Amino acid sequence: MDKKSVQSGLKKGLTNYGDEGFSLFLRKAFIKGAGYTEDALSRPIVGIANTGSGYNPCHGNAPQLIEAVKRGVMLAGGLPIEFPTISIAESFSHPTSMYLRNLMSMDTEEMIRAQPMDAVVLIGGCDKTVPAQLMGAAAAGVPAIQLVTGAMLTGSHRGERVGACTDCRRFWARFRGEEIDAHEIDEVNNQLVPTVGTCSVMGTASTMACIAEALGIMLPGGASAPAVTADRIRIAERTGATAVAMIGQQLTPERILTPDAFENALRVLLAIGGSTNGIIHLTAIAGRLGVKIDLGEVDRMARETPVLVDLKPSGKHYMEDLHKAGGLTTVLREIRPLLHLDTLTVTGRTLGEELDAAPASFSQEVVRPFDKPIYPQGGVAVLHGNLAPGGAIIKQSAANPALMEHEARAVVFENAEDLARRIDDPELDVETDDVLVLKGIGPIGAPGMPEAGYIPIPKKLAKLGVKDMVRVSDGRMSGTAAGTIVLHVTPESAIGGPLALVQSGDRIRLSVANRSIDVLVSEEELARRAQSLAPRTQDPAARGYRKLFLTSITQADQGCDFDFLAAAEMTAKVPKPRG
Ligand code: FES
Repeated sequence: MDKKSVQSGLKKGLTNYGDEGFSLFLRKAFIKGAGYTEDALSRPIVGIANTGSGYNPCHGNAPQLIEAVKRGVMLAGGLPIEFPTISIAESFSHPTSMYLRNLMSMDTEEMIRAQPMDAVVLIGGCDKTVPAQLMGAAAAGVPAIQLVTGAMLTGSHRGERVGACTDCRRFWARFRGEEIDAHEIDEVNNQLVPTVGTCSVMGTASTMACIAEALGIMLPGGASAPAVTADRIRIAERTGATAVAMIGQQLTPERILTPDAFENALRVLLAIGGSTNGIIHLTAIAGRLGVKIDLGEVDRMARETPVLVDLKPSGKHYMEDLHKAGGLTTVLREIRPLLHLDTLTVTGRTLGEELDAAPASFSQEVVRPFDKPIYPQGGVAVLHGNLAPGGAIIKQSAANPALMEHEARAVVFENAEDLARRIDDPELDVETDDVLVLKGIGPIGAPGMPEAGYIPIPKKLAKLGVKDMVRVSDGRMSGTAAGTIVLHVTPESAIGGPLALVQSGDRIRLSVANRSIDVLVSEEELARRAQSLAPRTQDPAARGYRKLFLTSITQADQGCDFDFLAAAEMTAKVPKPRG
């Protein structure tokens, strides 16, 4: 073992002044300025990544969580030191939160590496924060444990239970369809987010919380407790204590985030009817460790993993109900035969040992038994075809069964601006059966792959009561949204993917049963159109982070990570192909 690898506490990662003794002397002098004693400074240090921000209500309970984590660290004999990183809130991030995810991961990775800490507690919550933190921590290699802020509680509108953000979209669609008036939409706006915390449905935040628990990098039972409950605070305290214990065992992310752990996480993503964003994020986290997620094999898994969790948008309940139903443990128990039970968790025990030690199951209605699912296959299906040679995704559990085998005329929007300009035009040539196609919202196109794949129903059809149409784009969709929506079409149109060649009037065929998405245009005609496509030009005004983003972002099938951040070599494939 080299000298650096045995350094701990304040001696870790000394600032380089050319004299190690002086570097440590100086560091101690400065931190003593904050009132620390020698005793405190001799303890193992647990860094706490603080993502509290006035711009991030989903992390509004960060101060209480930090206090509890600190208590846990000190009870276990460690020294807690919090530090700030970037915080990303979904609706406060321009142009998109996805655009900033990799920046947050770089911030997290470099701050873990730069500052002296023997373990780190990552406090995340809102959609992109947990993946960003896990991507960064995976690369930094310091023992890390994920804590989430937890879901918000639900509200009530005129006697009806509501929660962000499935109901946000449902009420907005009703407003667009003139079913409710401006007064009522203002009224419901006050009730959709009644407390701090993350969205109350199985959106991306809840999905990533469940994925972190399934990966073993969060305390068992840590995903589901709502933000404003005593359970959440107790989990925070135990997270702090666990972080100290992880130091002695050197439980680094690479020991926990193994190929088998990623396979478990994919199973959970499918069984909970999780967000389609979860696939992109898992691909990016795995990519940091040289593990390649194989979309074709994910689809094979999806065919044998039913959706068991009856939460919106695939079902009817909310996160607080999943918590009362026993949390993710109840799900893991049902899919136990499909899991790798020998994967290591932050407790130092295996997933199987944790499941054996979990409280006994009880009668509940939120998590269905394996043989009585709410959807017979996994929530996500992977599509291929001449429109998406690199793959596309549909959240089949939240789609309209009547539209899953569908062939119709395309109505094409060239980009988000074109969509905004024409979608509500009474003269728009669109009919109920048509397929809405939106180009230019991929990783580079928008840029940042906005969650604009949930294309609104044209107003003139919404007024007739149309609630769903087949929609196709190279963008993403919020995990809280539902509909027959084909997403992540790869390669994206901005780099000349086949989606760029589709024209209004072309026929498009979607077959979820065959896992296909095709444009019914001859190869010769598509080749002719490709010839006349304008060559892609670089944005001459791009500088700074935008320039880095545009030159380094990878496509959805590679997790939209920056090419220079992923591991140099992919040494394992997940899920393992069947032999
Ligand atoms: Fe933060 Fe939904 S907006 S979790």
